[in-house]
Amino acid sequence: MSYELLLRNCRLLHPTEPIAPVDIAIANGKIAAIAPEISASAQLELDLAGQLVSPPFVESHVHLDSAMTAGEPRWNQSGTLFEGIEIWRERKQDLTLEDVKKRAIAALKQQAMQGVLFVRSHADVSESNLIALQGLLEVREAVKDWMTLQVVAFPQDGIYGGEKNEALMEEALKLGADVVGGIPHYELTREDGVRSVHRIFEWAEQYDRLIDIHCDEIDDDNSRFLEVVTACAIRSGMGSRVSASHTTAFGSYNNAYAYKLLGFLRRTAINFIANPLINITLQGRTDTYPKRRGVTRVKELWQQGMNVSLGHDCIQDCWYSLGTGNMLDVASMLLHVSQMTGAPEINACYDMVTWNGAKTLHVEDQYGVEVGNSANLIVLDAIDRFDAIRRRATVRYVISQGKLLASTDRPQMHWQGEA
Ligand code: FE2
Repeated sequence: MSYELLLRNCRLLHPTEPIAPVDIAIANGKIAAIAPEISASAQLELDLAGQLVSPPFVESHVHLDSAMTAGEPRWNQSGTLFEGIEIWRERKQDLTLEDVKKRAIAALKQQAMQGVLFVRSHADVSESNLIALQGLLEVREAVKDWMTLQVVAFPQDGIYGGEKNEALMEEALKLGADVVGGIPHYELTREDGVRSVHRIFEWAEQYDRLIDIHCDEIDDDNSRFLEVVTACAIRSGMGSRVSASHTTAFGSYNNAYAYKLLGFLRRTAINFIANPLINITLQGRTDTYPKRRGVTRVKELWQQGMNVSLGHDCIQDCWYSLGTGNMLDVASMLLHVSQMTGAPEINACYDMVTWNGAKTLHVEDQYGVEVGNSANLIVLDAIDRFDAIRRRATVRYVISQGKLLASTDRPQMHWQGEA
């Protein structure tokens, strides 16, 4: 028997079972065998010497249309979401298909080299020619042999914030956006915000799409669109197809209201997406001291059994000028900001950038290192989840759809001082 790829001496990570020492054989783009010792040859054989094999990272929330534009046309001096929206409104006047595609593919390659093989990106559909959306739809096709990309029709300026925006949203869905987006807290009035959530659910049913709403991304404890999303999810039964992104106001709600809402949330299977790198910097800007952390109640949601996954949100743009696309940075920030420092909590933070993300994106059928599945996996220079996050472990190999996509040499530090 000869395989295309044979990985020897793997520490195979599983979310609920102990790490197993195994060999993994790959043929025809699929995982052909997993066993303690596979007696066969392969075109390429890698001895992993006990390094960790994990399913790939999942980026649940990023804006690839604005990636790598930091400083264009100017820097965000206040560091707020709202100044970022104004700067992006200027920058998006200059968008071209080539500009969007070039930056998005560069960002996706950077993500893939760090082990991300599933990405959900928002595309701003508030500009009149839908260039961001069309660019990302073309990119989705161009990268499909090595990256699964989902595109969200995202009305950055509000569905009712401009005369044409509602029609542009619908046009984006007809053109093939995978997910219906929204931004109720940025609609002109609370009533418009409520109306926008109802419209999003109608579109999702009509076009058979998933939902991912930027929801309550503000420190205002009166921003309560999550309850509207929850009510729509309960009434429509669409919960598991719905994601609430950011929900930072949830971190500012009084406990009496928050615990009532948690009870309603348990009646749904809504997915939550937190973006801790960016929200720790964007939120709290109008606070003096004490200054809020501006991240949703991740620990409580996790304790309640809700599905929480994580996103980078921005990679070098007008909202967040930093970032590389590394999901271990995101998990590390989350565990600090949310004080999830217990051993099971740290493991849960790793799960949020892997299995939970796959659940959010509804790609579970393509996900997981199991015989018969598409061979998507990464090799980390780590021994377990805790070690991977603590050291932001190097991703040594990335295998996508059975092919070796990227490799990194193990960095070596050498002590040059006195003994
Ligand atoms: Fe976002």
